[in-house]
Amino acid sequence: MSNVTLFSGENIPLEMHKVRMIQKLKLLPIEERKRCIEEAGFNTFLLKNRDVFLDMLTDSGVNAMSENQYAAMMQADDSYAGSETFYRLESVLQDVFGMEYFLPAHQGRACENIISQILVKPGSVALMNYHFTTTKAHITVMGGSVEEIISDEGLKIQSTAPFKGDIDINKLNEAISRLGKDKIAFMRIEAGTNLVGGQPVSMDNMREVSRICRKEGIPLVYDASLLTDNLYFIKIRDEKYKDADIKDITREIASMMDIVYFSGRKLGSARGGGILVSDRELFLKMRELVPLYEGFLTYGGMSVREMEAMAVGIKEAMDMDIVNQTPIFVEALCNELISKGVPVVTPPGGLGCHVDASAFCSHIPQTQYRAGALGASVFISSGVRGMERGTLSEQRNEDGSERLAEMELLRLAIPRRVFTLSQLKYTADRISWLWENRKLIGGLEFVEEPRVLRFFFGRLKPIGNWPELLVKKFREDFGESL
Ligand code: F0G
Repeated sequence: MSNVTLFSGENIPLEMHKVRMIQKLKLLPIEERKRCIEEAGFNTFLLKNRDVFLDMLTDSGVNAMSENQYAAMMQADDSYAGSETFYRLESVLQDVFGMEYFLPAHQGRACENIISQILVKPGSVALMNYHFTTTKAHITVMGGSVEEIISDEGLKIQSTAPFKGDIDINKLNEAISRLGKDKIAFMRIEAGTNLVGGQPVSMDNMREVSRICRKEGIPLVYDASLLTDNLYFIKIRDEKYKDADIKDITREIASMMDIVYFSGRKLGSARGGGILVSDRELFLKMRELVPLYEGFLTYGGMSVREMEAMAVGIKEAMDMDIVNQTPIFVEALCNELISKGVPVVTPPGGLGCHVDASAFCSHIPQTQYRAGALGASVFISSGVRGMERGTLSEQRNEDGSERLAEMELLRLAIPRRVFTLSQLKYTADRISWLWENRKLIGGLEFVEEPRVLRFFFGRLKPIGNWPELLVKKFREDFGESL
């Protein structure tokens, strides 16, 4: 992706690739979109993809692959043990991260399971800039807990801070002296901090956190799932790295860490995951769990074809044309929405555009899941599927009370090389219409609430008949248009 200036003076993101395989899309009429979301219990996770126009639920496992990735899949070596494919992937990862040992796993959360089983003890605390849903679930299942020590700026919806995912060093020092290092299971830094809006972490901050952790003997874990977005921001927002090679930055980051893990559904545009470590003892401890939960050590639950695609995808990702894919489109969508007055997380991050549901739906109490209601109404208005990242995505407190999220966001994820500029313009248009009519949106309540990761399968219903009112107003304003 390149930013180019048109003759008119307008700047646009220009795709540095062409589309050579397509998937047909369908945009259902609004009445049917309303029926579909009702059937899905007002939960966008439960929609059928055939009813969705633009799937912005996630960038996970849905990035477009390159011709070289497809070609590599043809030469996958299908063997249970000692597959050549494994050694090819291992050598790419060793080269990119400069770490010695690689453990394959079927996806990111499987890595979190292995890391938590080895490092988390009942009563121990994992410090991190911010949790991710699956990370927290694996830590709490082991009897541990999570403490977030992100910079205050990270939790402000609107900000000009370039690295909102940074750790607050004072909070880190305070947590170490309060808890004592033995109670700290590990310190985790999440690249492109997902739940606060895909916000990056700076090199200076990682270096300081690493220095402290090394001094105290606290294992430092890096979640590199959103590494590419973070690399882009290091290149463009940190003067010192403006001319640095992307692979050199990656190696420098990895050199600060004890464990690096990733979801290959995000990093490398394929499907799978893995853990990298330099310490042999730690490697041996974690290795025992791979055949138990994932599969033999040379595939770890992944298909060899995906592993080949991942090897090529990760190598290709060390390139500005790849790392800038999502951030440039996120910025374009955010700017389009901002120009229409719609509140979004700023500065625009990676992963997706994050709409501020608390400002959008301030008339809906937080206990009625504002961000979930916004997600359902965006689908009704546009056929675009986003993901609730707010109170619905939280776990209840141990006493059963609701844990209100610090941020109520609707995430519109931008998978890499999948959408076009006109699709983004359409999305911004329908959301700006919804913004003008936001008072029509009402709250949601649970009909079925699962105990663990409730946002995946939970079913809800609207409080009042607001979906009907939304459809009626849409027809008044758009006539016969889809
Ligand atoms: N870490 C981060 C930062 C993630 O964003 C994800 C997944 C995981 C770990 C878990 O990886 O899905 O391969 O098991 N994020 C997806 C998302 C689900 O939609 O943001 P996984």
